[in-house]
Amino acid sequence: MKRPIAMIAGTGHAVPKKILTNHDFAALGIDTNDEWITDRTGIKQRYIAGEGESLTSLSAEAARAAMKAAGVTAPELDIIILGTASPDRLLPATAVEVQAAIGATRAAAFDISAACSGWVYGMKMAEGLLAMGDAETVLVIGAETLSRIVNWKDRNTCVLFGDGAGATVVKRSTKGRGILSAYLRSDGTLADLLQRQAGGALRPVTPEVLAEGSNCISMAGREVFKNAVRSMADACDRALDGAKLAASDIDLLIPHQANIRIIEATAKHAGMPMEKVYVNVDRYGNTSAASIPIALNEALRDGRIKEGMTVMFVAFGAGFTWGSLVVRF
Ligand code: ACO
Repeated sequence: MKRPIAMIAGTGHAVPKKILTNHDFAALGIDTNDEWITDRTGIKQRYIAGEGESLTSLSAEAARAAMKAAGVTAPELDIIILGTASPDRLLPATAVEVQAAIGATRAAAFDISAACSGWVYGMKMAEGLLAMGDAETVLVIGAETLSRIVNWKDRNTCVLFGDGAGATVVKRSTKGRGILSAYLRSDGTLADLLQRQAGGALRPVTPEVLAEGSNCISMAGREVFKNAVRSMADACDRALDGAKLAASDIDLLIPHQANIRIIEATAKHAGMPMEKVYVNVDRYGNTSAASIPIALNEALRDGRIKEGMTVMFVAFGAGFTWGSLVVRF
């Protein structure tokens, strides 16, 4: 089937009210400082969900904004796909709670577990559903409340992550706009490098698990770093090949916002100057599956993306999973 089949018709994002800056960690008793965090990651602040805020509420807020931008109503949605690593509950999927919250009465809703690559994976699924004729309007959400699953005693991880949600309405392509290429990969042999060891069905929560914090995220930072750069570089090459484009044809690269050094290394490999790379990791931290759709919504809102532009998205996360898209707007 000839591309483009599916296009981005509207976007939205939502973040919690509370901002936690690098300077705020001292008051939490965490042995870190602004200089270390800024040098190693580029992060200056992140949003943290508070009372009354949840993955469902943030996702629903982002979804309403995306639907408004796309000019569609909730009952028009055929499918809701929510990529997350921090669902409100393990059962049922948070996507069905979002469905109820927004009143998407006709939709089928489900979560996907592809960690930071969740939104890219969801977009590829949305395209497939449109190609098969199984859907006309799909809502793809990437959302996280990672602050609720990090170990706030582990300075190696708790400074990195933030909460938020980004949503995208996907519809049938018009005027040559939409997904020009898509690439997905994973490598489960490296699953242990970034994980929540306990808290699932294999190792349920016990007092011991809570005491050791093994229900929280743990990460081999250096290994993740190396694999992230290698895989995102590969994914950029694949997406460009798939679209039969060169890096010089790309107007903007929106990479997963994990860490400024990973972003810079990926951009260098892809042959993209930093002026053509969208960066907001300084303001949001790593919001995992939410990072790309939040950045996309900002880039559209700020006029960084204009009609006719070609944008490349690239993601990497636990699994490991990675993937990329080239999209014409
Ligand atoms: N504040 C101060 N010191 C710290 C902190 C902190 N928050 N965290 C770790 N340190 C210390 C360590 O204890 C260590 O001290 P030591 O030498 O006395 O033992 C020292 O800093 C160096 O630690 P390293 O882990 O070797 O530091 P590194 O240069 O590798 O940077 C980092 C760590 C930032 C986590 C880096 O490895 C990284 O960015 N990895 C990628 C991780 C990532 O982005 N993961 C997100 C999920 S996957 C994704 O989204 C792509």
